[in-house]
Amino acid sequence: MIDIAVLGYGTVGSGVVEVIDKNNSSINERTGDQIRIRYVLDLRDFPGDRVEEILVHDFDIILNDPDVKIVVEVMGGVEPAYTFVKKSLLSGKSVCTSNKELVAAHGPELIEIAKKNSVNFLFEASVGGSIPIVRPLNSSLTADRILEIRGILNGTTNYILTQMADEGWEFDKALSTAQQLGYAERNPEADIEGYDACRKIAILSSLAFGKSVNYEDIYTEGISKITARDIQYAEKMKCAIKLLASSTCEDGKYYAMVAPFIVKASHPLYSVNGVFNAIFIRGSEIGDVMFYGSGAGKLPTACAVVADVVDAARHIGKHIRVAWSAEKLELTGVKSATRRFFVRVSGKRVECEEKIRSVFGDAEFIETDEAADEFGFVTPPLPESSFDEKLNSIPGVIGSIRFEEK
Ligand code: NDP
Ligand code: HSE
Repeated sequence: MIDIAVLGYGTVGSGVVEVIDKNNSSINERTGDQIRIRYVLDLRDFPGDRVEEILVHDFDIILNDPDVKIVVEVMGGVEPAYTFVKKSLLSGKSVCTSNKELVAAHGPELIEIAKKNSVNFLFEASVGGSIPIVRPLNSSLTADRILEIRGILNGTTNYILTQMADEGWEFDKALSTAQQLGYAERNPEADIEGYDACRKIAILSSLAFGKSVNYEDIYTEGISKITARDIQYAEKMKCAIKLLASSTCEDGKYYAMVAPFIVKASHPLYSVNGVFNAIFIRGSEIGDVMFYGSGAGKLPTACAVVADVVDAARHIGKHIRVAWSAEKLELTGVKSATRRFFVRVSGKRVECEEKIRSVFGDAEFIETDEAADEFGFVTPPLPESSFDEKLNSIPGVIGSIRFEEK
């Protein structure tokens, strides 16, 4: 019998309990032992709920129970999660978490503590919800040199952009529905401003490149400035807008960014819709490998957490090596990247076209039936730094979005 404790009985925590209850016999069969939920920690009471009898409000009860071998941290936020996780590892308990804020901020330190105490710190659900991506990076892909990670890493924003495009929903309605469905962070600013995707690409990059990528060094833009009109232009170009996260290693330099991109219909990420996420990993020998699945949501995420519990239970007393050192990986700024840009301008195209062509050269113009008082154009490929400079000389610019070229 292996006793576990679940910290946090919210969306993911209640999903963890449900999955363990529902799939109990197959989980035990795969573990080779019996998993028992001994405690659930939460701030609230849940009268009449299945966990009523095992609910505690004091973390020390869990910490001081030597029978608890695995702690599942699904409360979110850095504190008190960090303190509880650290104490658990130091007292010889493995930890499985879905908390990317915690992993991005303290990953290498917690991995090192786990190593020293012959336990495990596992965090599959911290990136991509249900998608197996952390374990593949730490096992199946270890023979190759990773050159690039690129994809959709946030379910909430992908859901919002899809509902705006396919159903014509307003941003606010799409966001509140994502919250009701349990996809969004407690403070959804983390989703819509790109911070959540930024932490996830920092985690994946650290695992892929072996050193710590500080999420605060990653250039990050969210989708809060994307409007229904931007989406109309994208549709007119037979494209979609996606929030992409990427990191690359090129000529010994490392780059990472999160931003909305216009993606062509022929691109494999174009049809990744709703709460789904997709991640490409490019290795020097394997080429592209793509991972796809539900990027958020109660039961899909809970399954990833419980799979970590099974792994931790299979490795009691044995640390699974995670190659993520505390040494900092320096990132190079993204301004040298060359790409095309879509730009929206207020005014009449006939009055501005000559000026735009004189600045950008061979631009491609787009007009929508919905907006007579503005137009759009797509630049030829040019470095970001030079785009910023040229854009300053165009009057009436409403906004711009990068084009995904791959
Ligand atoms: P919720 O807010 O739904 O659940 C968190 C739970 O933890 C709440 O019940 C909360 O109680 C409880 N809690 C908070 N602080 C404490 C504390 N100090 N002591 C005891 N209990 C506490 O969040 P989610 O389940 O959605 O997310 C949990 C984590 O998983 C986050 O890190 C999130 O980023 C991550 N995640 C979420 C996914 C999703 O689809 N929702 C997917 C992948 C990862 P109360 O409500 O009373 O404050
Ligand atoms: N809020 C996150 C998302 C949860 O929407 O992707 C999954 O990490």
